[in-house]
Amino acid sequence: MALDPAASALSAAPTVPVTHELRGKVLLVTIDNPPVNALGVDVRRGLAAAIEHAEANAAVQAVLIVGAGRNFIAGADIREFGKPPQSPALPDVCNRIEASHKPVLAAIHGAALGGGLEIALAAHYRLAVPGAKLGLPEVQLGLLPGAGGTQRTPRLIGAEAALSLMLSGKHIGAQEALKLGLVDRVGASDDILAEGLAYAQELLAAHAPVRRTRDAQALAERAAAQAAIDAARADTAKKSRGLFSPLKIVDCVQAALDQSFEEGQRVERKLFLECLESPQRAGLVHAFFAEREVQKTPEAKSAKPRAIETVGVVGGGTMGAGIAVAVLDAGLPVTMIERDDASLARGRAHVEKVYDGLIAKGRMKPEAKDAILARLSGSTSYDALASADLVIEAVFEEMGVKQAVFAELDRVCKPGAVLATNTSYLDIDAIAASVKRPQDVIGLHFFSPANIMKLLEVVVPSQVSADVVATAFELAKKLRKVPVRAGVCDGFIGNRVLAVYRTAADHMIEDGASPYQIDKAVRDFGYPMGPYQVVDLAGGDIGWATRKRRAATRDPKARYVQIADRLCERGWFGQKTGRGFYLYAQGARVGTPDPEVESIIRAERERAGIEPRSFSDEEILRRYMAAMINEGANVVHEKIALRPLDVDVTFLYGYGFPRHRGGPMHYADTVGLVTVLADIREFAKEDPLFWKPSPLLVELVERGANFASLNTAI
Ligand code: 3HC
Ligand code: NAI
Repeated sequence: MALDPAASALSAAPTVPVTHELRGKVLLVTIDNPPVNALGVDVRRGLAAAIEHAEANAAVQAVLIVGAGRNFIAGADIREFGKPPQSPALPDVCNRIEASHKPVLAAIHGAALGGGLEIALAAHYRLAVPGAKLGLPEVQLGLLPGAGGTQRTPRLIGAEAALSLMLSGKHIGAQEALKLGLVDRVGASDDILAEGLAYAQELLAAHAPVRRTRDAQALAERAAAQAAIDAARADTAKKSRGLFSPLKIVDCVQAALDQSFEEGQRVERKLFLECLESPQRAGLVHAFFAEREVQKTPEAKSAKPRAIETVGVVGGGTMGAGIAVAVLDAGLPVTMIERDDASLARGRAHVEKVYDGLIAKGRMKPEAKDAILARLSGSTSYDALASADLVIEAVFEEMGVKQAVFAELDRVCKPGAVLATNTSYLDIDAIAASVKRPQDVIGLHFFSPANIMKLLEVVVPSQVSADVVATAFELAKKLRKVPVRAGVCDGFIGNRVLAVYRTAADHMIEDGASPYQIDKAVRDFGYPMGPYQVVDLAGGDIGWATRKRRAATRDPKARYVQIADRLCERGWFGQKTGRGFYLYAQGARVGTPDPEVESIIRAERERAGIEPRSFSDEEILRRYMAAMINEGANVVHEKIALRPLDVDVTFLYGYGFPRHRGGPMHYADTVGLVTVLADIREFAKEDPLFWKPSPLLVELVERGANFASLNTAI
């Protein structure tokens, strides 16, 4: 069959992301740049050209800007950051829209975020439909609204509301936007085109004038605006923990108050470019994409998930109850299985406690709790799981107990049910091998508290079928978790790497650092807590049990620091016992340094024959991070993690790694792998068994490559 040359020419033609057509007297400008109408260079050009066309064409009396697809505009094209700029710049496009002599109306549906909202603010009138989401989330990418947003927003809605939007980065709904004055009208329906055109007609009929946001007067009450800026500055200095862009946002709003629009915009531009250059911006943008990239696994691409409508949870302890809450919150029914009636009642009480806490804080109504709990049933008989589509086991961390539970699941569950374990360390291949349907067995490793923590390690044993893996990723979406694919090994990605850097920290304590200094150095790096605070929070007994289990298989030549064992032998398990590495006064959640712990540490150093030396905070971090990076590299090398970015996401969402540093592997690239490897080789002079450079790290250094080069699409 001959090809139709016209058709092939058509299909080869580049798509035009901005089109315009005359609808009566209104020029309808449509942005169609999938997936989210980001403001790439072609969109910017198209928008500027559409305004020129409107100005030049006498038939046009007003302009209506809409987005095609699910969103208005999600913002600047984040993929362009760090590349050479291409004109026109977004602030110029916004200024061109605002300068139009014909009224411009933005009709917003879906997301109008960042630069997307800035385009809308440059328009003269704004309409949002009920499902719209508006926001200035630049701060979450280490930036500030850089297309006039810091100047127009406070002039339109006042300093306090503008600062709150820009410093939180939160998305607000259409009604709230209307209340703030960010939009002029909320449409009655979600039909964006009909609503937009009707409003445009109304504006024309009323001879509505061009109305420029730069002239809005919400900063006229100068004293109130200054007070809001001062309060935001003080609050930000306290809370922003080393973040660069939040204080710059405050500076921009100060400029909006003190200076002309043009001067303010110059300040905004200068500070925006500083943010753009900052490593924090690179770290946060890496986190943004990595968080999306982890969802793309070979199995999620190749297989269709199984339907999950009912869920069983075995065990109602800390994790079982938390997992039940996570599933209930996703709107699914849960059947909880426990050993006996008393344990079942305790499990149910754990679940209720979560919702009672929300009620006490005024975040939930008692009726809502009743409605949720109506979806929770319990039983001491496994037969209650006969119709469950997915069962998650969260019983004691003992292979015998787990295998007994899986034997019961094998007996009662329907064919095709997904059988998941929440084990932290045990060999899931061995659990799978113990049942007749290993293809249905998978690890779903939640983090405590399971209803809050975002990370879900999806642990993929050798015999599992691809659709079960795809189901796990689909479940994560329903539970609003961030899933990371991990292979089977002791501790999977997160706990395996954690064990190594914790050991490096223990070595430093025995060599002369104090746990309090290490915690502080780690907090100063950006973590919310240091490692010894985390031990005290989670309970020292958990790690103690693991150490005892591993004692028999530990390399006798490996250095073993006994300090934590000395504390556990005294029953000092952390917060829950009132003391651990820290002392907790009656019910206190923040501990104070404990002189007795310091004397135990001194005694242990003597026992080990170690002459203590001092550590700088910088050396502490170099060792702590080198241990983390090296084991992260091993995890990638052994294909336990698909890519370095999977390690990054694990630590960002499960272990409190500071987001603006992008995760340990991204951070390693910013330090330079040559430096990291040189550190490891230097530390290896004292302890070559512990500090063995990862073969992957060595290979990358030899090739002059970095971890980012391995973050390729799956
Ligand atoms: N630029 C480039 N790509 C973007 C993007 C953006 N602004 N926003 C989203 N994408 C991409 C995602 O990476 C993803 O790509 P993939 O399919 O290849 O993985 C795809 O669009 C779909 O995104 P999501 O999976 O996040 O889709 P959702 O429907 O779940 O969410 C959204 C949509 C709410 C718009 C969400 O994508 C989002 O929050 N985007 C970022 C918004 C933002 O931060 N905007 C500010 C940008 S900075 C700015 O504007 C600076 C200016 O002031 C000068
Ligand atoms: P837990 O001791 O609080 O709860 C275990 C529950 O299982 C108890 O309520 C017990 O009655 C019940 N149980 C024991 N045997 C049972 C059986 N045969 N049938 C039904 N129920 C049974 O323990 P936790 O902390 O909830 O841990 C559970 C699992 O989750 C473990 O495998 C653990 O390694 C893992 N995990 C724990 C985390 C934590 O931070 N606590 C984090 C991630 C995973």
